[in-house]
Amino acid sequence: MPFEDYRAYLDAVEGIGELKLVRGADTKSDIGPITEITAWSPEHPLILFDDIAGYPAGWRIAAHSFDSYQRMRLIHGFPDGLRGRALTLWWKEKLDNYVPVPPRMVDSGPVLDVVQTGDEVDLTQFPAPLWHADDGGPYLATGGASILRDPDTGRLNVGCYRGMLYDRNTLGHHLAGGHNGQVIRDKYFERGQNCPVVISLGNDPAFTLAGAENVGFGTSELEYGGFLRGAPFELVEGPHTGLPMPATAEVVLEGEILHPDHEDKRLEGPWGEGAGYYASAFAQPPVRVHACYRRHDPIVLGEPTLRFRNRGAAGGFAQTARRWHLLERSGLEGIRGVAQSGPYLVISVKQHYSGHALRIADYAMAGLADRPPRYLVLVDDDIDPYNPALVNWAISTRVDPAAQVHIGRDRWCNVVNPAGLTPAKRVIEDYTIGTMIIDACKPFRWRFDWEKMFSHSDIPEQLRAQTAEKWADKLGPLITAPKPA
Ligand SMILES: Cc1cc2nc3c(=O)[nH]c(=O)nc-3n(C[C@H](O)[C@H](O)[C@H](O)COP(=O)(O)O)c2cc1C
Repeated sequence: MPFEDYRAYLDAVEGIGELKLVRGADTKSDIGPITEITAWSPEHPLILFDDIAGYPAGWRIAAHSFDSYQRMRLIHGFPDGLRGRALTLWWKEKLDNYVPVPPRMVDSGPVLDVVQTGDEVDLTQFPAPLWHADDGGPYLATGGASILRDPDTGRLNVGCYRGMLYDRNTLGHHLAGGHNGQVIRDKYFERGQNCPVVISLGNDPAFTLAGAENVGFGTSELEYGGFLRGAPFELVEGPHTGLPMPATAEVVLEGEILHPDHEDKRLEGPWGEGAGYYASAFAQPPVRVHACYRRHDPIVLGEPTLRFRNRGAAGGFAQTARRWHLLERSGLEGIRGVAQSGPYLVISVKQHYSGHALRIADYAMAGLADRPPRYLVLVDDDIDPYNPALVNWAISTRVDPAAQVHIGRDRWCNVVNPAGLTPAKRVIEDYTIGTMIIDACKPFRWRFDWEKMFSHSDIPEQLRAQTAEKWADKLGPLITAPKPA
């Protein structure tokens, strides 16, 4: 169901009983900790902070917008009860039938209720929390999304990038290496130009979710977001940059990422990353904000990264579905299932020839829908990749590590995980790291011998059923329980 704007979404969230209003919290010492500890419980409510100490009533921060099964249902519209593999498959089939829904340009919208330009711009008017105790400063942009235009192709790109508040008209903006935003920004820099940008701080949930998905270079998140939303986004043209901005947004900042020859880089961070560590502060080109557009009583989205955020029973299905969809589009035969299981991406494969499973793994390791998985596990098609016990059984019994573990080196990664990122690599901003493919498939070359040498010792289903029937009176539920899948 398309939501007109974030407020319509909030009404729907309230309607399903998942909205919690918190009044009187402080940006320095309350909002960050409340957001963190409430994120640990499964299916926690959306928290709306109002009457924030030192800010006008009605200037709100909304946290946990996407953190429950029912809230994801509101946005994606999947049938109640779908979980795990069925839910991933449901979204994958949508992606298989993807039809871009292009945005519509309009002349006006509520985001233009208040327009401030030049010296009137004052970013400190917005509540910007210290989300984690040792962050380098308050962060204003954590849950919205930014739009940039590729200067080579003219295509628009949307991404969620955090923004640290420096002063009245300057923000830090973290465009991680390898994300399309970074590539586009640096194309401007190579031309000696600043990079135009608009940063939305609060918007229809489909806008943030489309921005957060790695849809591939050149594919428009604006069109994908329209598909996700079920209706085109309405956009107004920003007069300073010519970039479009969501007409129904809560707040939009329009400006430029400054070329390092025009203005010195500034330290961005430290920031409490989702991996559970502070990454150090890095010099980044700052954003100079030329204009600020907002509603009278804006709602700023707050989605700080948190180590133990529990996104509820639906968490992660969209990215897994996209990886599965892209893998199938490779034209490679035999892909039976794709799942995220703990730290592993697991792919189940029906092998048809020697080298088949690793060929699929090599394709997945290109980093479909974001960075390559650090650990990729290949399993045969008798293993449900959604069942961790079976995946672990395959790893334990079908892998000779000396032959079936393949290490990749210097693969695309980021700064947030300390593993493998030596101090020397950090200095030169080399965020590459190793990867591992665990080929837990029965080796294809053994296909004529494996079953003879190692037939399964589990009780056959027929014997289990016979035994259950014969001994039902004496043993009851002890033996009638189905065999664990
Ligand atoms: C709440 C949130 C915050 C994020 N913060 C950042 C960030 O600060 N920097 C970044 O590069 N990616 C961040 N990401 C991930 C990117 O938005 C995501 O990978 C996106 O697909 C990148 O888009 P791009 O490849 O078009 O640049 C964040 C995602 C979410 C949902």
